[in-house]
Amino acid sequence: MDAFDKIIGYSKVKGELRQICDSLRNGEVYAGLGVKAPQGLLLYGEPGVGKTLMASALIEECGRPAFICRKDRPDGDFIKAIKETFDRAAEQAPSIVFLDDMDKFANGDEDHPDAEEYVTVQSCIDAVKGREVYVLATANDISVLPRSLRRAGRFDRVIEIEAPHGEDAELITEHFLSGRRFVGEIDPKPIARIMDGRSTAELETVINQAGIYAGYERAEAISMEHFLRACLKIIFEMDAAGPGREAVSYEIALHEAGHAVVHEALCPGCVTLVCADSNKGFTHYYRNTEDYRLWMEARIMGSLAGMAAVEMKTGLQDWGSSSDLDQAFDRVEDLVKNSCVSGFSLHSNGYNDSGQLRARQEQAVSAEVEKYYMRTKQILAANAGFLEALARLVMEKGLLTMEDVSRIRDEAGRAPADTERPAPEEAALPAEKPALAA
Ligand SMILES: Nc1ncnc2c1ncn2[C@@H]1O[C@H](COP(=O)(O)OP(=O)(O)OP(=O)(O)O)[C@@H](O)[C@H]1O
Ligand SMILES: [Mg+2]
Repeated sequence: MDAFDKIIGYSKVKGELRQICDSLRNGEVYAGLGVKAPQGLLLYGEPGVGKTLMASALIEECGRPAFICRKDRPDGDFIKAIKETFDRAAEQAPSIVFLDDMDKFANGDEDHPDAEEYVTVQSCIDAVKGREVYVLATANDISVLPRSLRRAGRFDRVIEIEAPHGEDAELITEHFLSGRRFVGEIDPKPIARIMDGRSTAELETVINQAGIYAGYERAEAISMEHFLRACLKIIFEMDAAGPGREAVSYEIALHEAGHAVVHEALCPGCVTLVCADSNKGFTHYYRNTEDYRLWMEARIMGSLAGMAAVEMKTGLQDWGSSSDLDQAFDRVEDLVKNSCVSGFSLHSNGYNDSGQLRARQEQAVSAEVEKYYMRTKQILAANAGFLEALARLVMEKGLLTMEDVSRIRDEAGRAPADTERPAPEEAALPAEKPALAA
């Protein structure tokens, strides 16, 4: 058991931190090989993904005295504080300087690559070079830092910490659920899938809010319903599952059911939540396939499916689809310009960006979207029973989980997913040899 065990998941990052820690603790081994001691590490990423936790674990595990610097005073005083931090670290070397939230050191509302704070940090790093002062920093947005500060030699390693995905999200969810009293055995998987790509800090907040709902109701334990309600409130800013929710219109329910049906038809099990209230809704997905092409097509046709479902079932144009259309057009535009799905002559190559090319690209994008829209309608028509049953359940409950969606899908029976896309085994078969003429 070491300090890195406090970090749940992130095995690759932990591996890197352990390696850095070893080079700081056993400098003589590396010196014997003629290797220079590492200078510094910059961890960057979204808020709440564990950067400070990881930096603290490294400090604890490598056993050097650490001198921490955070922006906690006005500019002039702060510059003095930066210098003092480095001076003290140099006096007590081997040591660590920890610059937490370094991107907040300079005034946030200006373009400030030459801000005095960064110039000071840079000159301090250079001043302690060769004196066994390791510099550790965290930041949300490294684009505001001067490039010279980020360069190798000042920070040898720059590691992006992403919000937890897949197995990491499951491990972290399991960890945070284990400390709470939940009704029965709560399966962390559906929760992890809803929270996939969200920061650990958000997950902690949602689980805590679920506990607050349970406490307010004087419930014996936290239930999945409490969790979902907290999740909707905090992550998706909706009250759809709350007591006294307003009725959901058939049109909104159909729109969301359309998104869900097409995604499920193409990537079964990828829909994690379907939610609607009196004037809006959303459907949430989890990427559950490695097949990039399949996932992209699911996202493109899934975006178009809300509009298509409303049009097919009510004969009305759906006016609530503009952001869905934006998403579909953006994805198709990328395929046309960068993957040449409509021919090489439409490739955006950076030096041929004429108005004429752009006009042809726009035409091709619209034509591709039209084709996808037709396929979307075919998928919905083939899954008409699933669509209707799902829309009715959205109206009744306002919020459907993964289990609800899978149950309705299985009850309605699986229809052929997509007539245009060959089954994988079919696609892999070589073309039949022409029969030899007698
Ligand atoms: N992998 C993890 N394992 C266990 N706890 C984690 C993990 N990642 C984050 N946490 C917890 O989530 C919370 C937020 O983490 P932390 O403060 O380290 O995030 P941060 O990336 O430094 O955020 P900010 O950019 O806002 O400073 C803390 O309570 C932390 O212990
Ligand atoms: Mg932090």
